[in-house]
Amino acid sequence: MKRHLLSAADLTRDDAELVLRTAEELRSLADRPIKKLPALRGRTVVNLFFEDSTRTRISFEAAAKRLSADVINFSAKGSSLSKGESLKDTALTLEAMGADAVVVRHGASGAPHRLAHSGWVRSSVVNAGDGTHEHPTQALLDAFTMWRHLGSLDGRRVAIVGDVLHSRVARSNALLLHTLGAEVTLVAPPTLFPVGIDTWGVETSYDLDAVLPKADVVMMLRVQRERMNASFFPTAREYSRRYGLDGKRMRTLQDHTIVMHPGPMVRGMEITADVADSDRSVIVEQVTNGVAVRMAVLYLLLSGAEGVAGADESE
Ligand code: CP
Repeated sequence: MKRHLLSAADLTRDDAELVLRTAEELRSLADRPIKKLPALRGRTVVNLFFEDSTRTRISFEAAAKRLSADVINFSAKGSSLSKGESLKDTALTLEAMGADAVVVRHGASGAPHRLAHSGWVRSSVVNAGDGTHEHPTQALLDAFTMWRHLGSLDGRRVAIVGDVLHSRVARSNALLLHTLGAEVTLVAPPTLFPVGIDTWGVETSYDLDAVLPKADVVMMLRVQRERMNASFFPTAREYSRRYGLDGKRMRTLQDHTIVMHPGPMVRGMEITADVADSDRSVIVEQVTNGVAVRMAVLYLLLSGAEGVAGADESE
């Protein structure tokens, strides 16, 4: 793997499969009474979050701690950013604290790239979500969840449904799933597709009911109203009627098809509660898998190793 993980496009098929295999080894730790490995003892991971997060921040923290790294959590709220401090000065402060990896979430697309290529920090930079651009570790944990349920993703049909325009998850998933051989169809109303979608190497559709019966995986996306500066079209009610996954639509899926959502989800909008809580839903499993995948990413970036030394040596 490269020194930084900024985009799903940074991952070759070999890289991605190495992360998935490593995550599988590390996932078994969760079943042990003591869940820690000494693999990153003495290393420091900084979680640098300029935007809100529940799953990503907590799972990176859990992942780093399970590998015995020291963790520093930085949240923009309550920091000196409110006094006008720049990204550069924040980065130099982290560097002075000896960070080995900086996990960064930022509202501006490209902020992690700026950090990685600026020379301000010597550490590895991991993109934990930048604006509407990318969220590569979410794509890895989603691919890992699919892989555990379906085996090889070659030729598997994945429908990603909803607000593609504002979704960094959709873009990273489209890139990574293409690398892993899956066939991706993005489903959205015409107003929620970005310009240039034809360059993503995926199919697109406005018709959810036509796509669902063929899908092996259905991934629902939240409508990101906070990123829209006007009321979005169609209306919430019309959106749910045409693009929401409810019990009736779920019954048109193949028996083996799984339902995913990266979170946070709005029950009753893009997915009904009965679907989110159904046997097909692997939404909670995605969160569990997020810890193993982020352990794998931190381990591979910081150790440079290709296997998990000490996996049989929990402390
Ligand atoms: N999936 C995801 O990025 O969730 P959070 O915003 O809670 O981290």
